[in-house]
Amino acid sequence: MNIRLSTGSLIPIEMHKVRIVQATALPPVAQRLAAIEAAGYNTFLLRTRDVFLDMLTDSGTNAMSDNQLAAMMVSDDAYAGGESFYKLEAAVQEVLGYKYAVPVHQGRAAEHLLAKIFCKPGDTVVMNYHFTTTKAHFEIAGAKVVEAHSPQALQTESSEQFKGNIDLDWLQRVIDTEGAAKVPFVRMEATTNLIGGQPFAMANLKAARAICAKHGIPLVIDCSLISENAYFIKSREAAYADVSIAAIIREMMDQADLIYLSGRKSTCVRGGLIATSNDAYYEQLKAWLPVYEGFLTYGGMSSKEVEAMAVGLREMCDYEVASSSADLIQFFVQRMIDRGVPAVTPAGGLAGHVDAMRFLPHIPQTEYPAGALAAAIYIASGVRPMERGTVSMDRDAAGNDVPSDLELCRFAVPRRVYSMAHMEYVVDRLAWLHAHQELVGGLKFYHEPPVLRFFTGKMEALGGWGAKLAAAFEADFGPAC
Ligand code: F0G
Repeated sequence: MNIRLSTGSLIPIEMHKVRIVQATALPPVAQRLAAIEAAGYNTFLLRTRDVFLDMLTDSGTNAMSDNQLAAMMVSDDAYAGGESFYKLEAAVQEVLGYKYAVPVHQGRAAEHLLAKIFCKPGDTVVMNYHFTTTKAHFEIAGAKVVEAHSPQALQTESSEQFKGNIDLDWLQRVIDTEGAAKVPFVRMEATTNLIGGQPFAMANLKAARAICAKHGIPLVIDCSLISENAYFIKSREAAYADVSIAAIIREMMDQADLIYLSGRKSTCVRGGLIATSNDAYYEQLKAWLPVYEGFLTYGGMSSKEVEAMAVGLREMCDYEVASSSADLIQFFVQRMIDRGVPAVTPAGGLAGHVDAMRFLPHIPQTEYPAGALAAAIYIASGVRPMERGTVSMDRDAAGNDVPSDLELCRFAVPRRVYSMAHMEYVVDRLAWLHAHQELVGGLKFYHEPPVLRFFTGKMEALGGWGAKLAAAFEADFGPAC
């Protein structure tokens, strides 16, 4: 949460004590250059021994609480009927208000099962924005994805507080054009990841719900980042200023027919979940769960993580937990702006984002500016961000690159892991790189997988810019930094 200093300024203050730490080290710049060359300029392919601050993702990298770790010690390992599951089911009923809890091994497994039971060729899934794995699963099942995003969603400099809103007129138009029977569900993603972790408003969710209800279309919420979206509703939507995070989450859940989540984010574990009160959906999920994931009471998760998810679901309703990374991200984004780094505004959840097209205006999208920026900042800092731009888009059926709406370089802020000093360091190296932007060039694939190429694809730095950047950095900071 934020606390006001006597000077009047706000700082994000940790509402926890650090009792267990993991050492990290800053590899020298020559080692970083060698590592990114070996990784094909793809930060996914770096080893963590070569990384100082791992800001690739907030997925599965959050600090767990003492109560979560304690719960893991009493987990009940059983193939079927394990008590850990019943604790999770009770937490789902209490926190989310749904009857059925379906554990899965992670978020994309939930997407796979949803695609299996809802999507068929000719269908159109309408959503506020896609996520990479979501789009892949629904398209593999033959459905089309339409992103009825808000008008401001793709503006990286904005004061719109709810860029994750779905455009209601657009949603209505798609239903009218396709016909309600061809829309298996509408998907709202909380704290919309790929547009910079931007929330939707409760009012927007309720309006989308009303449209869905009118046409008999189910509404599904991707709740991977639900806690942060609830926090943004509380802090940005006037009517909710005095409503608790727990009550906001329940009100959001009342709008949906089914929700799913990656448990690796808001609930700070490694797993996933589908929840619903709909008997028919549950019966279908029940049929496929043991085929793809595991028996109903563990669904591919370790029983330890099932226990910890039950605790994490309750803890994400605490104001201090819901705000823990969002407030640090806000500080991070403000500091970037103070130093002239083109950060995405307003600050969102999960990460601070840099607009690579403004940071590196000389690199065309065909040469992947966000990928180049991710690799360049790694060379200049040892910080590992993630490309969220055209590299993260797969080619179309004709084999052409599909330019991404946005070219973002994402610096994820895992919950309760990094400090203000860490953020200041990242901002400083970004400011240095921005002042030396001409040293960064484009990228070209030399190994390109056909699906979700960003995970394992390899690229080369056009004109060998990596070595020149490392040399300039070393000239300014010395070989050890
Ligand atoms: N939905 C959203 C909104 C996500 O952010 C993710 C994962 C998934 C679904 C898939 O869940 O990874 O558990 O299978 N996001 C991670 C990220 C990978 O780095 O943003 P998963």
